Amino acid sequence: MSGLDLSGKRVVVTGEKGLGGELVRQATEAGAEKVMFSYCSGAVEAQELHEATGATFSRLALGDLESHASFLEAVRAFGPVDLFVANAGMIASGRLKDTSPKQARRILDVNLFGNIALVDDLIVGDYMAKRGRDMAEWSRAGLIGSVAAGGHVGQRHYAASKRGLRGYVESLPDDMDVRRKRVGVCLLEPAFVDTGNPDVTAAINYYREKIIAAGGADGQARWEEFVAKGYVMKAPAAAEEVLRLMTCPEVVGVRAIPEGATMAKVREYLNKAA
Ligand SMILES: NC(=O)c1ccc[n+]([C@@H]2O[C@H](COP(=O)([O-])OP(=O)(O)OC[C@H]3O[C@@H](n4cnc5c(N)ncnc54)[C@H](OP(=O)(O)O)[C@@H]3O)[C@@H](O)[C@H]2O)c1
Repeated sequence: MSGLDLSGKRVVVTGEKGLGGELVRQATEAGAEKVMFSYCSGAVEAQELHEATGATFSRLALGDLESHASFLEAVRAFGPVDLFVANAGMIASGRLKDTSPKQARRILDVNLFGNIALVDDLIVGDYMAKRGRDMAEWSRAGLIGSVAAGGHVGQRHYAASKRGLRGYVESLPDDMDVRRKRVGVCLLEPAFVDTGNPDVTAAINYYREKIIAAGGADGQARWEEFVAKGYVMKAPAAAEEVLRLMTCPEVVGVRAIPEGATMAKVREYLNKAA
């Protein structure tokens, strides 16, 4: 039991696999009044998640403005949103020489442009609930960034897309429209979440091997410390933390999960172990 209480809240999550699926399950378990989610290619998974949780769903292809419009129509029918978690995104790794400009543009279109355009529309189009003047009562839009935006090897375009979300979120607190519409926007940046995404599994294996090998007799203990500090989380724990932070009145702006995590700190583990 997480102790999270979302009773009376209407929650929308983008993405149905990995972290998105966990966010939907936990929002439902925490008593949310209504939950809705999006899928892109995973129609079968979306149906299964709907059957397991009762949450409704609608298709969204981030970056495709016609798809944004039809998704937003479904959000309008859902009703005013208290918590919107813009979780969906492409995790992409690869060698520089193997990434075409078209692939690079796609990553930026989906993760950066797609999510920004969606959150802009949600705020400007009055899709978010307006509950009161006190910031604690404001509705919340949360974007999912990544500690890897600080430069995880092989994730240049992904890192650029997630770092771009920072500029967006950091410029919002004093934005006239955002204040008038009473929406708190935050960017939550998890380190590694074991969601089964193959690129993430490869990254976790990379760090496990490097830390254990370089640490000699202390290698296994150092890896366990790395995990215990929250640099590698299971999806349920990460989803719980995302929802907890999104319901903290004081959390607007950027927050890493675990708090204070940066790629420099991740690299320290490799260097200290070396
Ligand atoms: N896992 C990690 O270590 C980690 C760390 C930091 C941040 N994050 C961020 O957390 C979020 C979820 O990660 P995850 O590990 O759960 O990834 P995942 O298992 O690969 O799931 C990604 C989700 O995004 C959706 N999606 C992908 N491309 C889309 C598009 N063009 N339009 C709309 N939806 C799209 C997918 O929908 P379909 O499957 O239906 O296509 C899927 O539900 C991502 O934003 C990721 O960058 C993850």
